[in-house]
Amino acid sequence: MKGVVLAGGTGSRLHPLTRVTNKHLLPVYNQPMIFYPVQTLVNAGIQNILVVTGGQNAGEFLRLLSNGKDFGLKHINYTYQEGEGGIADALRLAEHFIEGERVCVILGDNIIENNICEAVERFQRQERGAHIILKEVDDPERFGCPEIRETRIVAIEEKPKQPKSRYAVTGMYFFDGTVFEKIRRLQPSWRGELEITDVNNMYLAEGSLTFSVLDGWWTDAGTFESLRRASNLVAETGANKLTQPARAPRR
Ligand code: G1P
Repeated sequence: MKGVVLAGGTGSRLHPLTRVTNKHLLPVYNQPMIFYPVQTLVNAGIQNILVVTGGQNAGEFLRLLSNGKDFGLKHINYTYQEGEGGIADALRLAEHFIEGERVCVILGDNIIENNICEAVERFQRQERGAHIILKEVDDPERFGCPEIRETRIVAIEEKPKQPKSRYAVTGMYFFDGTVFEKIRRLQPSWRGELEITDVNNMYLAEGSLTFSVLDGWWTDAGTFESLRRASNLVAETGANKLTQPARAPRR
């Protein structure tokens, strides 16, 4: 399975911090933001990674990540997203790199306490389709939010005014090779973007979307509040842990 880190966009929600740099280069506690999603892929055993970046600071990614050696990689691939077309638009640039294989996509501002090894295993057992990772949150209206009936997702809404569950769809997705054909069928949303949520809903309509719920904390870091939260969480507990400590029994 190949891996893609999406690290483009203008980071407008973090102005003026992002006026002269890319959001994914900003510090989250003691590391640049992009280190965390790259480590998440590496910890999941994914060695062949493409970083999609954009904006005026694309060259800095090369200086920072170099050839991937610091992550134990033999090589790292880069490409450039022109303009701001949304997550699915950025993913489109990975088509030649993926070559019909399966892919794990992670947003460059998504940081986790533990790892996604369990989700990787689940997806590998799946014959086709997609797999998403959910996490219970206090503010599902900020995210893609699933409607769940019994144990099945029946729909996913992007930034719903009235969320139908307490879950967020995290920015970590597993897709089979049909994802690019699906992206070609997308229309821009109300925010003018090609939405990854629409791609997930296409898999849902085909009956091939599965999900798991993440263990440990998850956060994005694309707003002042979530960036602060991310730094605090990393400082307090550390991120990208490979072995999970035994969970205390519920009282
Ligand atoms: C994006 C996705 C959303 C997802 C979130 C996770 O939101 O559109 O479905 O829940 O990432 O970080 P955005 O950061 O573009 O608002």
